[in-house]
Formats: sequence, C-alpha cells, structure tokens
Amino acid sequence: MKKIINASILNADFANLQDQLDQATQGGIDWLHLDIMDGHFVPNISMGPSMARICRNISDLPMDAHLMITNPNDFIPAFADAGVDLISVHVEGDAHIHRTLQNIKKNNCKAGIVLNPGTPASAVSEVLDMVDLILVMSVNPGFGGQKFIPSTLTKIAQLKKMISEQKHDIYLQVDGGVNAATLPAVLKAGANSFVIGSAIFRNEKSITDSAKELKTIIGD
Ligand code: DX5
Ligand code: ZN
Repeated sequence: MKKIINASILNADFANLQDQLDQATQGGIDWLHLDIMDGHFVPNISMGPSMARICRNISDLPMDAHLMITNPNDFIPAFADAGVDLISVHVEGDAHIHRTLQNIKKNNCKAGIVLNPGTPASAVSEVLDMVDLILVMSVNPGFGGQKFIPSTLTKIAQLKKMISEQKHDIYLQVDGGVNAATLPAVLKAGANSFVIGSAIFRNEKSITDSAKELKTIIGD
C-alpha cells in the first residue's frame, strides 16, 4: 500500500484554512485528518460535522474523521453526510465496537479503529476483518503538539504482523508527535499512514516545505 500523510488540521490556522490546505496540498499531503473532540472522551473540544463539510467544499483530498467522542454512533451519519471517506472510532469508548463499525460501513464510509497508548494490540483481534484502518495513538489524545510515546512502537510492530495475516488491505496509521525526528522509527515499525499536524502547520519552515520534507522521509 502507498504510504500516506494524513494532515491533521487541528493546529492549522482556521482563519486561513483554504490557503493553509492549498499550501499543504502543494507539499504533497495525501489525506486530511479531522480530529473530532467533544470535551468528554478527551479533555478538549475541537470541531464537528460542519468543519468536515467546509473541508469537503474547499479541498478535493480524501478525509478521515478521528472521533474522540462519547457515543460515536450518534454522529456517524452526520460525518458521512458531510463527505468524509473514512471514520475511525476508539475501541475504549464503545461497549459495542462491532456494531459501531457495522454502522460506519452502513453509512458508506470506510471504517477505522483507534487504540490509545494504554490499550493492547489484542483489542482489535475480533474485528480485523471489518476494518480498513487501525490507528495507533502515539500520544494521549486531546491535543496536538505533544511528545511521541516511544513504547507505542512495539504495538505498531505487533499490529503490522497481525495485519499481514489478513487477506484485505488495512492502513496502519500512527497519530501524535509524528515528525521528521520520529518518522524513521515509525516507518521501521511498519506504519503506512502518518497523521501529522504541528510538524506541518506549526513548523518554522513553510507549510509546503514542511510537507515536502516529510514526504521525502516517508518515500513511496
Ligand atoms: C490528538 C490528535 C493529535 C493530532 C496530531 O488527539 O489526534 O495527535 O492529530 O498532532 P501533532 O502532529 O501536532 O502531534
Ligand atoms: Zn487524530
């Protein structure tokens, strides 16, 4: 599978979003990553379906919505309707994760499952055949600009092995503190989808140059 950058807009300048996304697209990002936070599941509030719709209207890039919310089922139709391509939900916040993943697919979106740093890889073993993406949080969710948690590298490698035994393609995505310094280890562990926010939108280099540098490190 092609290795991709999913640019997290969480730390982008929302007052100049069109221009910021254009610059990041010029630098070669592949997807937009929307961090949806409700202030309950994580200690922050970020954006909702209306921001997904805005992004859909100003960018042609595919979008994945990372739901860091309680009762994610309640919002799956709204994000699907807003035009996201993939919806990922946390295994920790859902007693009925199998049904939630079914619901995402029923709404014609690809399905992703998310693991917090404290959740073992085995938590996804019963739904591997249902998911298109597994997201490994390499920070505790809620904020951009945090430090990468190195112990998650072991989990990435474990999941890489679990995925290799599946018959269908599954993106192995890593989210949090991914940048030029941490990318080599994340690549080595086997990830092929990289959620990157601050290293693109809050870097000393321009957005375009930051994205280009990260794409070069990732390779094809
Ligand atoms: C945390 C968010 C962040 C964000 C990426 O809940 O999911 O990880 O997308 O943030 P950076 O790239 O700034 O660490
Ligand atoms: Zn995210």
